[in-house]
Amino acid sequence: MTDLPQTMKAAILKHGGYSATSTGPVIEDAADWLEAAELPVPNPGPGQVLIRLRASSVNPSDLHFIKGEYGQPRLKGAAAGFEGCGDVVATGKGAEALNGQRVAFVAAGSGAWAEYIVTQMQMCIPLRPDISDDDGAAQIVNPLTAMAMVDMAREDGDAFVISAASSQLGKLMCSLGRDLGLKPIALVRRAETVEMLKSLGAAEVLVTSDPEIVEKFAAISATLKPRVFLDAVTDQLSEKLFCTMPNRARWVTYGKLSTEAPTLSQTGQLIFMGKRIEGFWLTQWMMSTPPADQMRVVAEVQARFADGRWKTDVSEHLTLENLVSNLADALKKSDGKVIITP
Ligand SMILES: NC(=O)c1ccc[n+]([C@@H]2O[C@H](COP(=O)([O-])OP(=O)(O)OC[C@H]3O[C@@H](n4cnc5c(N)ncnc54)[C@H](OP(=O)(O)O)[C@@H]3O)[C@@H](O)[C@H]2O)c1
Repeated sequence: MTDLPQTMKAAILKHGGYSATSTGPVIEDAADWLEAAELPVPNPGPGQVLIRLRASSVNPSDLHFIKGEYGQPRLKGAAAGFEGCGDVVATGKGAEALNGQRVAFVAAGSGAWAEYIVTQMQMCIPLRPDISDDDGAAQIVNPLTAMAMVDMAREDGDAFVISAASSQLGKLMCSLGRDLGLKPIALVRRAETVEMLKSLGAAEVLVTSDPEIVEKFAAISATLKPRVFLDAVTDQLSEKLFCTMPNRARWVTYGKLSTEAPTLSQTGQLIFMGKRIEGFWLTQWMMSTPPADQMRVVAEVQARFADGRWKTDVSEHLTLENLVSNLADALKKSDGKVIITP
């Protein structure tokens, strides 16, 4: 590590542990949760790599996490950020194969919103040269989730429902569904996004503020018979729509964009109609899916980004220097990811 600096810029967590609140992935001022700091450059241990950051992304999970509302506790003073891409500049014992490679990574050991990151070599995916740094920065969390969840949906018929369909993940799932000959039914909250979702392959698009949303959804549900509801919103409307879905329907909640806590109005459906409510978490999928299957999925993801079938819409680029001051404003734009560069 002789040619590496001793210290690095990072955006670090101001608070530790959980907050016991449930206020959702929105922030008024990033300075409530983060501060800019100079940290020592970490050392890779056995099986780990040190990555020099090229770009990292800001996902809803990052916002849940910095606020203490995610499924893992915060470590006060550690760098934030789950996902990015960069160059492997040093390796611990057993990780030498990745030396010098440009990789997409999930941070496991130190956060992605820093100039240097240490993570396990298993959390790295070498990137094809034809994938841009912006796409590389958002190559794992959403694309692998899209592949895994659409795979789950296609086992249960050809139509499936996607809420928050104008999200990056929703868009990936719509176009993947279309490419596989499926019929994605998209739910959006902004009418302006309807045409975009149709052009991406949604068979139907409904706007959740429509006063007749439940009736309209019920009619589509009776015709297309979707059996899987991939839900990132998980509010009372989700529950109402789930109640109109056919026998054996599964409500798969994988996000909490709404702060509303839904209640179950028709528990008999779980008993008599064989309906199920379950969760999806990529971390669990990665731990339970055989490596060979994961490698096939990763290869397909990179092929889709390389040939343009998928892309990461970017709303704004920030730097580690201006991240804390500008993040809240940058997140107000609804049309893509905020990407952080060193
Ligand atoms: N469980 C897992 O393993 C896993 C993995 C990846 C992602 N996720 C989840 O997937 C979801 C989407 O992630 P992403 O990175 O694709 O998000 P994103 O691109 O940042 O987009 C989120 C979009 O959702 C819409 N939205 C926000 N709040 C909403 C609300 N209360 N009701 C309805 N729509 C709302 C907004 O679109 P408009 O402004 O156009 O309405 C917003 O742009 C998040 O909940 C994330 O946590 C879960």
